[in-house]
Amino acid sequence: MTVNGGMSVANSGILKVAMPKGRIYKQASKLFRQAGLPIPEDFDDSRRLIIQVPEANMEFIMAKPVDVPTYVEYGVADIGIVGKDVLMEENKDVYELLDLGIAKCRMSVIGMPDWKPVIHPRVATKYPSVASQYFREQGQQVEVIKLNGSIELAPLIGLADRIVDMVETGQTLRENGLVEMETLFQVTSRLIANRVSYRLKNTAIQELCDRLGVAISERV
Ligand code: PRP
Repeated sequence: MTVNGGMSVANSGILKVAMPKGRIYKQASKLFRQAGLPIPEDFDDSRRLIIQVPEANMEFIMAKPVDVPTYVEYGVADIGIVGKDVLMEENKDVYELLDLGIAKCRMSVIGMPDWKPVIHPRVATKYPSVASQYFREQGQQVEVIKLNGSIELAPLIGLADRIVDMVETGQTLRENGLVEMETLFQVTSRLIANRVSYRLKNTAIQELCDRLGVAISERV
């Protein structure tokens, strides 16, 4: 079957899962294993990008976290795991099925401790859409500067007055003498689904949600 502008949503029994590479992967794969899904441990250090697990009828696509919603929206992955931060920024047409409760952190406004209000401040961030919306809602005119990493550098070297970024342990802020000024929202990883896959593979997706739901409730 062909849907989504010519992209093929596999109608085989195999469930294609977009997994975020990097820091979320460890927690996500652990949760999947707790849910009884046999992801072999040696995949954790592998550089392979497509990993088949025939015994679970699943295929894992190892994606850059920010791209997970794109793979799912286009249906090349049926479901995916992605942080709420990326979901808010990317605003893709996907179903959000489950809060996995992993990779907990928060999206915050951060600045130097001696920060003083200026007219039309510059705000550096990896999340220009989230930041623009937040300051618009606050009625503040800001210039948003998009960076791709090490956002905390921006106020230290005079590129920006403030930043909007993720805080997990707070270590990066402490080590660079920055302070958290406001929290925009809490962030955890979510399970998302392609809209067509959700209908065509509903039984498999629902079963996965149920298993993950039990594993999440048994965690704490
Ligand atoms: C993230 C985030 C912060 C840091 C927060 O960066 O952007 O910089 O982690 O974590 P902490 O509160 O535990 O110190 P990441 O490590 O993903 O790399 P990046 O700076 O290149 O975006």
